[in-house]
Parts: sequence; structure tokens; C-alpha cells
Amino acid sequence: MQDTPQTQFTTRVFSGVQPSGGLTLGNYLGAIRRFVDMQDDGNETLYCMVDQHAITVWQDPATLRRNTRQLAAGYLAAGLDPTRSILFNQSQVAAHAQLAWVFNCVARMGWMQRMTQWKDKAGKNQQNASLGLLAYPSLMAADILIYHATHVPVGEDQKQHIELTRDIAIKFNNDFGVDFFPATEPVIEGPATRVMSLRDGTKKMSKSDPSDMSRINLTDDADTIAQKIRKARTDPEALPSEAKGLEGRAEARNLVNIFGALNEQSVDQVLADFGGRQFSEFKPALADLAVAKLAPISSEMGRLMEQPEEIDAILAQGAEKARAIANPILKRAYEIVGFVGA
Ligand code: TYM
Repeated sequence: MQDTPQTQFTTRVFSGVQPSGGLTLGNYLGAIRRFVDMQDDGNETLYCMVDQHAITVWQDPATLRRNTRQLAAGYLAAGLDPTRSILFNQSQVAAHAQLAWVFNCVARMGWMQRMTQWKDKAGKNQQNASLGLLAYPSLMAADILIYHATHVPVGEDQKQHIELTRDIAIKFNNDFGVDFFPATEPVIEGPATRVMSLRDGTKKMSKSDPSDMSRINLTDDADTIAQKIRKARTDPEALPSEAKGLEGRAEARNLVNIFGALNEQSVDQVLADFGGRQFSEFKPALADLAVAKLAPISSEMGRLMEQPEEIDAILAQGAEKARAIANPILKRAYEIVGFVGA
């Protein structure tokens, strides 16, 4: 393989989700639906279940296995097609961890310690956090760069990690005097790049929030979805008729964003329909919409989960295709570093 100049990297899309719990509406709207769009636009797409990232915090082995298969079921039910996208779990493509080691030696401690996610997750107890949690972004850079991926669809919270990926690529290229790794672009688009908690409009909707009422899970049934939306925190005002009127109204803005994302409408279009109406009218409309969009995904996930051997076969085929792309790039990276026998 030749070291290609930056302009010659062809478009290749990579992204990943941690199998560290159930999928939320945030994962779906911020990431997985965008994965499907990029697949359907005819791009070369690779989507990973990042099980090695998941174990940076404790995972019960049986639960990790179930969550990995459930995430794969979520990918498939949302519209990812294994004949068009490469779907696999990270631990089965050793080149990710192999390149991550090289990146651990390129990246600087200070870069890792600056990451918001590290600070949030390690908290005040940094000495007791796993070494993997600190090195997490280096493995993430390897996930992306082992495929020379040029575009990474993610939610807003991953922006800092993609910027770090670029820094690692640039430092590797500079250290070794090559033009080998691309400067990857994050793709953070649409009205739902940051879906917020239903209980607190200033906090991200997250699978790790202790309150299940704060999130919609892709496995929730229709009644649960409707109940969570009914109980979602709001303010007493009617909805405004323009986006400007949502300023300072985090909860209202979040529900309008979710409506727009689910209905493929802009915030202005949603407010053109609902401006001046109370939440007592808006919430039932949102609940109906959410149930209509999510129930088919949830039931397809349930069906797929009854056939774990089919899921495993899809992941095994995906891993084989992924290895075929990753291994020559790892070989060249090893040669560049100076490893004999690469
Ligand atoms: P993870 O597993 O936390 O989340 C998966 C994807 O879902 C997005 N997301 C959200 N988007 C909008 N609103 C929300 N409330 C919300 N919650 C989650 C995330 O931004 C993400 O796109 N480090 C990554 C996984 C990863 C990865 C990669 C991603 C590992 N290697 C390489 C891209 C490329 C993570 O923890 O995502």
C-alpha cells in the first residue's frame, strides 16, 4: 500500500456504539438513524459494537454478551443491512487493539486527561479508574483510523474524541514523516445531535442515568413510552410559534427536537403546527409519533433476539470483511513504526 496524499482518501464511514446497556432514543436519533442514512446514501460503511470500550468499566460477562447481541439486533431492526454495511464486534478484529497500542505511544497523557468523558466517568476517584478508561480515546482513534475512515457519524458528546482522533493522526504523520492517516471528519447533523433527559433538560439522555424515566429505551413497549412522555418534565407555558421562543426552555426545546427528529421535520415546521398549544395537547401527539416510529423497531429486535445464532453469523461475516480492510493498514503502520517482520 502506498502512503496516499490527504486528497486521495476515498470516503469511508465508520462508527460504533458501546454494548454497555440498552439502546436509548438518544443513541437512535443521534447515531444509529444517521448510520442508516449514510448506508442508504451509498457510502462504504462499517458499524461496530465496541465491546472492548464497554469493559473500561465493569461488565458482567453474561450481560455483555446479551447486550452485544441486542445492540446488533438494534442495528438490524433500525435498517442496517449486512449486505451493504459491515457489522461486527470490535474484539473480533484484533487490529483495533494492535493499532491502539501504537497510538498509546503517540498520544500524550495530558491529551487523555483533558477529555470531558474521562473527567465525568472517573470523577474524583481517578486513581481507582481502569487504565483502559484513560486510554479509551486512543482505542477509539484506532477504531476509526484502522480503516482510514474519513467520516464518523456521532452525537455531539463524541465531538471531542473525534478531534483527538485527528490530533493522533496528525502527530503520527508528523512523527514518522508520512501522509498515512486521514484527518477524519465528525458528522454531527440533524435536530437530535444531543437528546436530553426527560427529567432534566440540561442533562444528556443516557443509558447510565439511574432513573429509567429519564430515557426512552428502544425496547420499551407502547404504554411505557406514552407514560414516560406524559410524565416528562415541562414548563407551564404554551409552545412558541418560532424556534427563538424556545430559548431558556430546555425541556420544551428537547421535546420539540425529538418530535422534529422522529417526524423528519425542522423545529420551525413543528412549531408552525403546535405553536400556541399546551403540552397537554403536544405530549399525546409526541407519544403517538414515538410509538408509531419505535414500536416496529422494538418488535423486530425482539424477533431477532430469538435467533442469536443468526446474529452471531452476521457478526462473524462482518468481522471477516473488516479484517480484510484493517490488516493491510495495520501491516503498513507497523512497517512505518519500524517493527521487523511486519
Ligand atoms: P456511546 O455508546 O455512548 O453512544 C453511541 C452513539 O450515540 C450517541 N448518543 C447520543 N446522541 C444524541 N443524544 C444523546 N443523548 C446521545 N447519547 C448517545 C453518541 O454520541 C454516539 O454517537 N465512544 C463512543 C463509542 C465509540 C465510537 C468509536 C464512536 C467507540 N469507538 C469510533 C465512533 C467512532 C461512545 O461511547 O458512544
